[in-house]
Amino acid sequence: MPTIEENLRWWNEKYDWSQKGEKWSASWGGSETQWYASIFPRIHAFLPAHSILEIAPGYGRWTEMIKAHCEKLIVVDLADSCIEACKKRFHKDTHISYHLNDGKSLAMLQDATIDFAFSFDSLVHAEADVIDSYLAQLARKLTPNGVGFFHHSNIGVYVDPSTGELPDFLDNTPGRATSMTARRFTECCSAVGLRCIAQELINWETSTAITDCFSLFTRRDSHWARPNRVLINKRFAEEASYLRKVMLLYVESGYRPDPIQWTV
Ligand SMILES: C[S@@+](CC[C@H](N)C(=O)[O-])C[C@H]1O[C@@H](n2cnc3c(N)ncnc32)[C@H](O)[C@@H]1O
Repeated sequence: MPTIEENLRWWNEKYDWSQKGEKWSASWGGSETQWYASIFPRIHAFLPAHSILEIAPGYGRWTEMIKAHCEKLIVVDLADSCIEACKKRFHKDTHISYHLNDGKSLAMLQDATIDFAFSFDSLVHAEADVIDSYLAQLARKLTPNGVGFFHHSNIGVYVDPSTGELPDFLDNTPGRATSMTARRFTECCSAVGLRCIAQELINWETSTAITDCFSLFTRRDSHWARPNRVLINKRFAEEASYLRKVMLLYVESGYRPDPIQWTV
């Protein structure tokens, strides 16, 4: 159960950011491959966007990529060390603005101003109260045809309702939020006037469990609104290692922990 306070303490004080989060892209061979071959294909239909909100940028692993796709980028994080690191890293990018928040509030945004809301590899640590809060506000902050793409936890499907515990085979040291599931996300969207229009339920790194979910959402009356499309993608982690092998032929990797195996 990672609370907002635990997230703040961990990311602001304890986590070693010397690699700027790059090691989390190791399965793909680096953040560039992860972006161009894995993230960007999933969101390209909504880019470029005039105004993008990135929630929880950390040290800017995705800010670096998404900043080219908008005229205005607003980043919001609860850790001031992350906000300061982003300010330093992107000091030449005058179209980026930075906001420290309390882990829940988007009060710094005007209503109907966000064309694309994005969060990746962060809100997996956010419990349902945080997701509820962000979605309730985004229902107002999105432009009429605005869209959001959130990577969040689905590990709650494995919680035993009688004990509240996860099964022993599931290692949750990364601290995924046990109150979140893909279904919970759709219910929250419906409750606040948003509509979930696609969900990809995935495994992550070495796990075969479907612990994560990418959810795409929009306003109920937006031109993107449609019945939800759901895919359980058990091959997401495999996709990463495949992309790593292929892309290493063409690009220099930012992160290469092991010797390359030259067989696909
Ligand atoms: C694992 S890091 C990922 C950072 C970045 N998205 C990346 O992939 O490199 C998690 C980030 O989420 C932020 N965070 C965690 N909970 C948050 C919340 N409720 N609201 C805003 N930021 C949050 C942390 O401060 C940290 O910057």
